[in-house]
Amino acid sequence: MATAMKRNNYIDENQNRFIEQLLEWLAIPSISTLSEHKSDVGKAADWVRQRLAAIGFPEAKTITTEGHPLVYAEWLPHKNQPTLLIYGHYDVQPVDPIDEWKSPPFQPTIRDGNIFCRGASDDKAQIMLVLAAIEAWVKIDGALPINIKILLEGEEEAGGASIAKYVEEHPDQLCTDGVLICDTHMVHHEQPSLVTGLRGVLYTEIALTGAKTDLHSGSYGGVAPNPIHALCLLISRLKGEDGVIQIPELAAAIPTPSAAEKLFWQEDSLHVEEALRSEMGVEELVGEKEYPPLERIGLRPTLEVHGIRGGFTAEGAKTVIPAAAMAKVSLRLPADFDPNEVFGWLEKAVHQNIPAGYSVQVTNLHAGKGFYINPDNRYIRAAAEALELVYGKTPVFMREGGSIPIASLFDETLKAPVVLMGFGLPDDTIHAPNEKFSLQQFHKGMKTVADFLGRLKN
Ligand code: BES
Ligand code: ZN
Repeated sequence: MATAMKRNNYIDENQNRFIEQLLEWLAIPSISTLSEHKSDVGKAADWVRQRLAAIGFPEAKTITTEGHPLVYAEWLPHKNQPTLLIYGHYDVQPVDPIDEWKSPPFQPTIRDGNIFCRGASDDKAQIMLVLAAIEAWVKIDGALPINIKILLEGEEEAGGASIAKYVEEHPDQLCTDGVLICDTHMVHHEQPSLVTGLRGVLYTEIALTGAKTDLHSGSYGGVAPNPIHALCLLISRLKGEDGVIQIPELAAAIPTPSAAEKLFWQEDSLHVEEALRSEMGVEELVGEKEYPPLERIGLRPTLEVHGIRGGFTAEGAKTVIPAAAMAKVSLRLPADFDPNEVFGWLEKAVHQNIPAGYSVQVTNLHAGKGFYINPDNRYIRAAAEALELVYGKTPVFMREGGSIPIASLFDETLKAPVVLMGFGLPDDTIHAPNEKFSLQQFHKGMKTVADFLGRLKN
């Protein structure tokens, strides 16, 4: 029997064990943004380090950082074969609103061919399917087809500061010919896709103060500054109903897509607009209507408010004018922008648009660059061929709206092509209640990655 078939059989035969392992890892609540989960993040790191060692990686270690640990392993058996660096993140998002979950967020549950658990799609199952593919090579062929380095972080959902520092300081250790990241999704379970672009992100906090104390709204209403109202005015001035962001420097520098990409977005042959409506459960999309949805998500910048705090929201009524208000506001940015420079532009726009009578402070919480790659390279071609073999359909190239800041840093520091081959699905509801990962995608993902690794051999 050809060894490719043996590897696939191995994946079939060991599927239940791979699922069991995934369930064990998923049950560790490795929420990186909440300090009370710090030790869980450490446990999740240790869990995957042990899994790497069990597969046979001669060197699998955790690396302590100022934040959460990195996990690093390498296995470099071949002098004349290329090296692939594999990246993933083992941290997960918080679970709120918890009441919306149908099963507890860290009690992984299988329903209708899916595993439901926080972190299932983003990103633990995607890491596990890569490890299973590697294991299949080791067990069936007795060796890896190429050299492999694996770098996993526990801080991606918190901005990824530690890995950024590490990559900048260790370019020689991480030196590679190509990079694989499985932390995105395909357009549809029958339509494979590869991601060519990610947006950057700038996450800020805008804090406003008015009077020196809260005030009675009868005695002072009409003369007192109201920071919540001013915040609402400010936000609507920064982005109006038309979805256009009023930051002139930003508008002036938005890149133009290729004619082919523009046509693909306009034609919408994959019916993305309809799919988006159904995924979100809404009648109508909002935003810059003159641009097709895929362009609005993949290329256009956007400004979103994540939360507003201030004033009185408890039970009953209280006639008070608050002294302060705060909003969490982020921007998503096309690949070419430096988010820290955009922060300066945003600060300026905030100061120009804030109504008189308030003091305002804008804080940069984290910033990550976007990414774009021309798919015409050996690594992305190998990924496309592997997807085509397993899914029986030619993959399409897509730009994603989400961010993986380390992608651009790998590109700049390691100067190796980055393959964004994710196996999530659009309805995985990452970052939201009832996150899931499809078992079929888990299985097909392993076969695709196993095939991909073989294609990289010289
Ligand atoms: N896996 C996502 C990135 C992603 C989301 C890719 C949607 C494609 C589609 C990743 O874990 C993530 O959530 N990234 C954060 C980065 C931020 C915290 C710097 C994001 O996009 O919000
Ligand atoms: Zn995420």
